[in-house]
Amino acid sequence: MQTATIRFDTFNQLPDEACHRRIRAARERLGKRAVLLCHHYQRADVYQYADLTGDSLKLSRLAAQAEAQYIVFCGVHFMAEVADIMSAPEQIAILPDLAAGCSMADMANLAKVERCWRELGEVLDVEQQVTPVTYINSAADLKAFCGEHGGIVCTSSNAGTIAGWAFARREKILFFPDQHLGRWTGYRMGIPLDEMMVWDPDLEMGGLSAEQIRRAKLLLWKGHCSVHQMFQPAHILRFRNQHPDGLVIAHPECRFEVCQQADHVGSTEHIVRTIKEASPNTRWLVGTELNLVNRLAEEVKPEGKIVQFMAPTVCMCSTMQRIDPQHLAWTLENLADGTVVNAITVPEHEKGLAKLALDRMLAVS
Ligand code: 13P
Ligand code: SF4
Repeated sequence: MQTATIRFDTFNQLPDEACHRRIRAARERLGKRAVLLCHHYQRADVYQYADLTGDSLKLSRLAAQAEAQYIVFCGVHFMAEVADIMSAPEQIAILPDLAAGCSMADMANLAKVERCWRELGEVLDVEQQVTPVTYINSAADLKAFCGEHGGIVCTSSNAGTIAGWAFARREKILFFPDQHLGRWTGYRMGIPLDEMMVWDPDLEMGGLSAEQIRRAKLLLWKGHCSVHQMFQPAHILRFRNQHPDGLVIAHPECRFEVCQQADHVGSTEHIVRTIKEASPNTRWLVGTELNLVNRLAEEVKPEGKIVQFMAPTVCMCSTMQRIDPQHLAWTLENLADGTVVNAITVPEHEKGLAKLALDRMLAVS
């Protein structure tokens, strides 16, 4: 039976302990009707309730396979959009706090990408020569843009495979919104740095000459992650001086020089797996978000492994951090009462094309 919506005001000031009691009670009432998907960066006090965890590729697969009526996504907005796109029409994707966005995803929008496509079209035959590839950290309408223009989605764990797919079709890639993932992917494929040009969406023709556009194999959108850009080569140098036997692992959203100096580069799932499978008593410096690093450090401590965070400052994904016990309790209690709050609904006209681009990705990777 549906009751009136409980307002968030009543949860805002609720102490954590009370939230935890109410989360447990609501989950009990919901049973299998709700599944909780959590990204690796989720804060510990929410992560403990996850039914399923993973990086963005794994979570997009899990969302497509989920059978529950409600998919409660403890992550950021684009991840909940993917869950809505990939799940069945009768399933509902929910983001406990609508303000949990991704600042990198916000660095590209449809108007700017369409303008870029138009401007590239003044120099190239874009539909024949350029494949648009969007990082999954992007809004649904950008995924739809890729679906419509023969493009595809990638994540940090399959970007190389996806770029190979794209180059097999057309000679150039327009990669948005993360220049660092794009550059690292191109570098690993052997593309010279001077054939990777940064497209600045705030400048006419991206700030590039016609000659530069013709020469570029990879056009890299000028976007970045504010969390991962905090990691610096100097942090790695200091670690290596102090611990010559230590190992360094970084997420490919880190700047190029950091990835170049790391021993391993990979997605959040890759980072977790590599360190869990490493020999006992090894020491690791990790360049990715702090919640993941802290959790991993605790998990592998019994094997004598030491896991250190790369930066001296606190680098959390402040937007994902917004999904706190208060928002989770509020969301689940409403759901248990039959009221859906914070449903993420991608408009139908975007859904089909965005799904096309995501399905291409899942088929290839
Ligand atoms: P993963 O695909 O590695 O989970 O990364 C997502 C993300 O947003 C990293 O900042
Ligand atoms: Fe977005 Fe960066 Fe947060 Fe990942 S860590 S979700 S890229 S803001």
